[in-house]
Amino acid sequence: MASKKKEIALQITIGNQEHWEEMLSSKGLMVVDVYQAWCGPCKTVVSLFRKIKNELGDDLLHFAVAEADSVDALENYRGKCEPTFLFYAGGELVAIVRGANAPLLQKTILNQLIAEKKVLDQGAKREVIKDEALFTKEEEEEEEEENAIMIHAEDELVPPKKSCTVAIIKPDAVAHGKTNEIIMKIQEAGFEILANEERTMTESEARDFYQHRAREEKFEELIQFMSSGPCHVLIISKSRDDEDVIPAWREFIGPTDVEIAKKEKPESLRAQYGTEVLFNAVHGSDNREQASRELAFFFPNFRKIDKTTEALHNRNLERTLALIRPEILKEKKDEILQKIREAGFSIAMQKEVMLTEEQVQEFYREHTDKDYYPALLQHMISGPVLALALVKEHAVEHWRRILGPANLAEAINKAPNSFRAEFSPKESAINQFHGSTSQEEAEIELSFFFPVEYTLATIKPDALAEHQDEILEKIQSAGFTISQVKETCLNRDMAEEFYKEHRGKPFFEQLVNYMCQGPCLMMILSKENAVEEWRKLMGPTNPAEAQTTVPESLRSKFAKSILQNAVHGSSNKTHAMEKIQFIFGDIDLEQERISQEKQMDYILPEEE
Ligand code: CMP
Repeated sequence: MASKKKEIALQITIGNQEHWEEMLSSKGLMVVDVYQAWCGPCKTVVSLFRKIKNELGDDLLHFAVAEADSVDALENYRGKCEPTFLFYAGGELVAIVRGANAPLLQKTILNQLIAEKKVLDQGAKREVIKDEALFTKEEEEEEEEENAIMIHAEDELVPPKKSCTVAIIKPDAVAHGKTNEIIMKIQEAGFEILANEERTMTESEARDFYQHRAREEKFEELIQFMSSGPCHVLIISKSRDDEDVIPAWREFIGPTDVEIAKKEKPESLRAQYGTEVLFNAVHGSDNREQASRELAFFFPNFRKIDKTTEALHNRNLERTLALIRPEILKEKKDEILQKIREAGFSIAMQKEVMLTEEQVQEFYREHTDKDYYPALLQHMISGPVLALALVKEHAVEHWRRILGPANLAEAINKAPNSFRAEFSPKESAINQFHGSTSQEEAEIELSFFFPVEYTLATIKPDALAEHQDEILEKIQSAGFTISQVKETCLNRDMAEEFYKEHRGKPFFEQLVNYMCQGPCLMMILSKENAVEEWRKLMGPTNPAEAQTTVPESLRSKFAKSILQNAVHGSSNKTHAMEKIQFIFGDIDLEQERISQEKQMDYILPEEE
């Protein structure tokens, strides 16, 4: 019952032209599922929409369903069988997604929400589009070119092989409080910001960075200037895959000499924000080689992430969701996991969960009217379910093949060696396993059980000095994305606040001293299930215990004692958000999530 109520609240129903016009006047972003009466609204995406709504909790995000036949404005959508999602903001059409493509829908919602917020908060221009379905034939031909820029599923799913470069907002622009303004202009000009790190270069770093200019007359001044205060170091790429970011960025920032920039390219960043040759506000790499060197200089791990992603794509790896139902879980879990591994799957994530009736209903939304549903529901809530993210080439199809037919009698007769035949108790009417039916469904289902999360991770001072590279390597090969990173020297007040939950404990004073003894590396890690996954990778607080129970964990390998235990991680999602804000301030995690999606399409399988 509770879920029915939620369902109504999630998507408003647009039943006629009047409702449609009311909808157009609503504030924020409205995602409308346009459906045909005979097939009803698209059910597969509802749990995704609910998840996004729950996670963002954003008042500006709305969902609706509209039957094409009953709304005049949707005349041109009548009789189309493909699910169509229209995105409206300020009464205007801003994006269209055709097909129940979960990753694309998710990405479009987040992008459009950010864009609409910029429109509402900062007066940015709303990018309005037209849908070819609303055009006449001739207009359609004329607009062909325009339509080519509409989002297509294939484009979005191709792994990114974009050119990247380093951009620096220099200390003068940062000191003048221009950082946010410049960042907005960069984004509006079609650049994507894949990383953004505030840092103050030491003199020796600045010398190293500008070594190729050591013979120049103003070199010493340049070094002094670049190390005089914080700058923002960005990794940027172009939103369009076919554009080379390096010349585009150089063009955008304008000539080095601010006076020339003002005369020849008054709209360039240097013309707007620079004051003289030296204080020219922004930096850009000259060419590909220099960009590579600068990327390696500031972000030694960036390319590693890229390579990992590429390797997974090249190996054609796929993920699927597997569920093992409660009835056999208790007795057969180890045997089944063993068989799954023998079949060549890696278990990238696993989680035992007690589902509520509402959750089962949401997950099996498409099955609720089937005669087997009541029995399925009873099974699913009778104890913990084991959810697994399985990784392998063609994982979806392979997992379904070894499961055998969904109907138990058929499985036993036709595929006696299948998992469903082998592991289902004779008296049971319900098979004991679930597998996603397509890659799209797998992504939706995986996000149901393993939503993407953020956590705050810290490499503590001694471990940072001694094992930084090894720890970063392990973080990345466990499939985390390092969304933000900041080397931070905590002072006593900050350390006490950071660990305020431990105030009053006998080790609190020692802990504060330890954390202040040198710089720590603060990171925002993101991954599905990140809070729990990072705690798993760290291992138990006490390294003695870590060594016996999880010998591969970070604390087992790098901790010196229960106090000096190398790494820290938030203990739950609320703490994670609180500490992220404490260390990084108000940052836009949605933007982080988008850049993260661009870097990591798959998580890495865990090494057993
Ligand atoms: P962390 O996970 O960062 O959370 C609190 C920290 O306090 C912990 O890691 C250790 O560094 C430290 N700590 C926890 N328990 C003890 C203990 N019994 N003795 C000394 N230090 C501890």
